[in-house]
Amino acid sequence: MTAQYTHGHHDSVLRSHSWRTAQNSCAYLLSSLTPTMHILDVGCGPGTITASLARLVPLGHVTGIELSASDVLQNARAHAAAQGVANITYALDDVLALSFPDASFDVVHAHQVLQHLSDPILALKEMLRVAKPGGIVAARNTDFAAMTWFPESEGISLWHKTHQQVVRSNGGEPDAGRRMLSWALAAGVPKAQITATASAWCYSTPAEIAWWASTWEERVLSSEFATSALERGFATQADLAAMSQGWKTWGAQPDAWFGHLHGEIVCRKKQEARVAALQAEVESLEKELGTHEDAEAIVKKHIKLLHRYNEAKDAAQILIGRLATLKETTVKQIHDELDLRHSD
Ligand SMILES: C[S@@+](CC[C@H](N)C(=O)[O-])C[C@H]1O[C@@H](n2cnc3c(N)ncnc32)[C@H](O)[C@@H]1O
Repeated sequence: MTAQYTHGHHDSVLRSHSWRTAQNSCAYLLSSLTPTMHILDVGCGPGTITASLARLVPLGHVTGIELSASDVLQNARAHAAAQGVANITYALDDVLALSFPDASFDVVHAHQVLQHLSDPILALKEMLRVAKPGGIVAARNTDFAAMTWFPESEGISLWHKTHQQVVRSNGGEPDAGRRMLSWALAAGVPKAQITATASAWCYSTPAEIAWWASTWEERVLSSEFATSALERGFATQADLAAMSQGWKTWGAQPDAWFGHLHGEIVCRKKQEARVAALQAEVESLEKELGTHEDAEAIVKKHIKLLHRYNEAKDAAQILIGRLATLKETTVKQIHDELDLRHSD
C-alpha cells in the first residue's frame, strides 16, 4: 500500500528540503510543545525539521523515521551531529505499519508525507495509535493546485500540470492540503479534537528565488520526477527541457514571486476513555478494599508507579532505536529479535 515517493532523494531534492526548520514548517505546532516531550517525526527526510524540533524539547527526545533505505538517515544523523543536537534517534520504519507500541509518544508529526501515500488515512490511524492519550498528531501538507506564482511562465505551468500527474500516478494526492480535516475525520478523530489551519511559504527575495528556481531547474531534469514523467508518457525530454528553461528564465525576473499554500491539522487524542477506565478501576478497588483502607493513597501510589513505568518505557524505546542504528537494522527487526510485541 506504500506509494512511490515522487521526488526520490536526489541531491537537488535534499537541497530543497534541507532549508526547512520547525519554525518555517511547523509553526502551527510550536505552541503545543513543552521541553520534556517525546516526539515521533514521521518521514523525516534530511532531518532538518527533526533537529530543530529536538532543540525545542531539550529534556525530551525526538525519534525520526524514514522508509527510504538509501543514505538519507546517514545524512540526517550527520546533520544532527553537526548541529550538536544529541536528543535524536533515527530508524527505518513505515508509517503504514509502525513498529512502536501503542501510546509511545507525546507528539506524532509528519511534514509533507501524507501527500505521498496511497493510504493517508491508515497512516493517520497508525500515528494516532502510537500517540499517548492526551497527546497530539500533527500533519502539514502541500496543496499543489493552490500554488501560485508571477510572472506567468509556460514552462512552470507545464511543470505544475505534469507534477500533479506524476504524484497521482505514484498513488499520492498533490492537493492533500485541502483534505487534511477530511482525512482526520475519516481516521476517526472527533471534529472537536481537530484544529485545521493553513499557512504558506513565500519566496520573493533574490536569494529565495535563486534557490527555489535553481533546485527545480535541476530537479525536472534529474530527479525521480523526471524518470517517472518520461516513463509514464506525461512528458517528453523536450517538455522537461522546456520546464527547466521555464524555471531558469522565471528565476532571473526581478519581480519573481512564488506562494506555496499548505493545509495543517493538530489532532488531540482523547483521554476520556482512559479516565473512565481508571475511574471504574478506582471504584472496583474501593469495593474490594472496604471502608478500612485509604483508597486514595493507594491510587496515588499507583499513579506514581505508572509515571515511573512510562519513563522506563520511553528510555527502553530510545535504547531500542539506538540499537537499531548500531546494528543498521529496523526497530521492527529489533522487536522481532527480542520477541517484543506492540503491547509490550
Ligand atoms: C517530501 S519528503 C518530507 C521530508 C521531511 N518531512 C521534510 O519536510 O523535510 C517525504 C518523506 O517521506 C518519506 N516516506 C514516504 N513514504 C513513507 C512511509 N510509508 N513511511 C515513512 N516515511 C515515508 C520519504 O522517503 C521522504 O523522505
